[in-house]
Amino acid sequence: MVCLGNICRSPMAHVVLERQLADAGLAEQVEVTSSGTGSWHLGDPMDQRAAATLRDAGYDPNKHRAAHFDRTWFDRDLILVMDNANLRDVRAQGEGQVRLFRDFDPAGPGEVPDPYYGGAEGFHDVLAMVERTCAELVSQLESVLLHAR
Ligand code: 4NP
Repeated sequence: MVCLGNICRSPMAHVVLERQLADAGLAEQVEVTSSGTGSWHLGDPMDQRAAATLRDAGYDPNKHRAAHFDRTWFDRDLILVMDNANLRDVRAQGEGQVRLFRDFDPAGPGEVPDPYYGGAEGFHDVLAMVERTCAELVSQLESVLLHAR
């Protein structure tokens, strides 16, 4: 999962996908990581508003520390980016399976808008997009991994 700062959107997607994978019994088979194309927040915990939004919905935001995307992250099987600027920035650095996260959104494709400069509402919208998109990802991963057995 990749966004700009790795303190709002991609960490939210990281925590939600990890939890949904665990609930589906896939925790051992799929590893989730996240990073940001910008390095300003390297090593920082999640944005307090992102963390509060997750906590209110029953997730644990505390383990996150921001990482910086670089070429070494192309060893991932799939890189999911939050917006078109992330897509451009990641693709400029190398070759790999890079897709917009919301290409998997059952409500339709698009960007996950950056909530950093807005209010709490933006973080709730991000969580709703992330939860329904991760549910679809888990469902597709389940069928891929089932057929691979
Ligand atoms: P994120 O949000 O990309 O969803 O983590 C942002 C976090 C920090 C900044 C921008 C976006 N920033 O400019 O510091």
